[in-house]
Amino acid sequence: MSHAAKNLSAPQRAPTSRLPDFRKLSVEERVELLGQMLELSEGERLRFQGAEGLPMEVASRLIENVVGTFSLPMGLGLNLLVNGREYLVPMAVEEPSVVAASSFAAKLVREAGGFTAEADPSLMIGQVQVTEYGDPEWATAALLAAREEILARANSLHPAMVQRGGGARDLEVRVLPAPEGPDGEPLLILHLLIDCQEAMGANLINTMAEGVAPLVEELTGGRVFLRILSNLADRRLARASCRIPVSQLAFNGRTGEAIAEGIVQASRFAQADPYRAATHNKGIMNGIDPVAIATGQDWRAIEAGAHAFACRSGQYRPLSTWTLEDEQLVGRIELPLALGLVGGPIKVHPGVRLALEVLRVGSVQEFAQVLASVGLAQNLAALRALGSDGIQKGHLAMHARSVAMAAGARGAQVDEVAGLLARTGSVKVEQARELMRLLSGNPQE
Ligand code: MEV
Repeated sequence: MSHAAKNLSAPQRAPTSRLPDFRKLSVEERVELLGQMLELSEGERLRFQGAEGLPMEVASRLIENVVGTFSLPMGLGLNLLVNGREYLVPMAVEEPSVVAASSFAAKLVREAGGFTAEADPSLMIGQVQVTEYGDPEWATAALLAAREEILARANSLHPAMVQRGGGARDLEVRVLPAPEGPDGEPLLILHLLIDCQEAMGANLINTMAEGVAPLVEELTGGRVFLRILSNLADRRLARASCRIPVSQLAFNGRTGEAIAEGIVQASRFAQADPYRAATHNKGIMNGIDPVAIATGQDWRAIEAGAHAFACRSGQYRPLSTWTLEDEQLVGRIELPLALGLVGGPIKVHPGVRLALEVLRVGSVQEFAQVLASVGLAQNLAALRALGSDGIQKGHLAMHARSVAMAAGARGAQVDEVAGLLARTGSVKVEQARELMRLLSGNPQE
């Protein structure tokens, strides 16, 4: 077990993620309940309410030209059961419906036994681009023959990672056709396969890729240009699945068969058509990105990896599929998840530390299993709505709240105006203003 995993292992789990009526509580009551369940300190509870956000001192050292900090609502995804474990899921996101949808679908799945998930070890790829090497076969053989020397050079650059059980494990050499055509020099790319343990690994990988470059030039007689990690982290995949008896899908007067049929048709659509697959995958990332943001992950890297992986067959395809098997709706997802529980903003961002304290995962593998499951839950919620009533019905009710606020409603007025807006079916700021004028008893206002 890695050093970090030892520190993080066997976290005290949330007793349950099933919290009926959580949404009916006030924000203060929710934090109080969460604080009690997770035995959070007074300071941690305060942090939820932004009383202790990212200190300017820290913010101004994290990036350049800092002029302030930026916040998002953080909601709690509920009901998530993965491999028999309960997870409360912190989600930082501006889009209404995301947290509700993920919690709703997670409830459906938990009633059918929960998600089953697994994740690969933290193997990442560092790329080294070699040019002017002469004969590609000779250069490839020279690099492969020096495998041990190259790996030893890479590992000498990060002895602490090697001590923790990680480091450069293997190498591959790829010869790719020149993009200009047969007259161009084929590309010779060395891949270092590096086990990053509990880290996302970008710094480690780039250090190793840069560190072996002089040796690579010496061995091939060539010239190295790029030395950088690949975000197509296809050695670091996570997979999740769920099986829901069709009968459990019935709702709103629709049979379970009808709902399942809508979901399966949506899956077929995404498999056949990249235009649909892009939106299907966006729905999956609606679940994954908010958790990644709340927990301080490099979400651009996760996005890049997911979409590149979706294209691996040469056509952009969905990251998940839904099929009917023995009267059960079966969902499966697979995607790369380069996550870290050490490094990055994790130590310095109090909000990130708090989100991880709520999520309580013991290793990056467990973290990846949870994220893949959240992505699949989010996808299920979207497809269930799209394949039946459409998403606007549910969305409009949520959207109406932000429209009411944009029109100036505050406090109890927000829900009152939003309710009326949703009922009129015209969720527009002008309409909200009109309703507020009527409610104030002063239509001339
Ligand atoms: C909206 O943010 C996400 C959806 O478009 C996803 C999908 O179409 O599957 C509803």
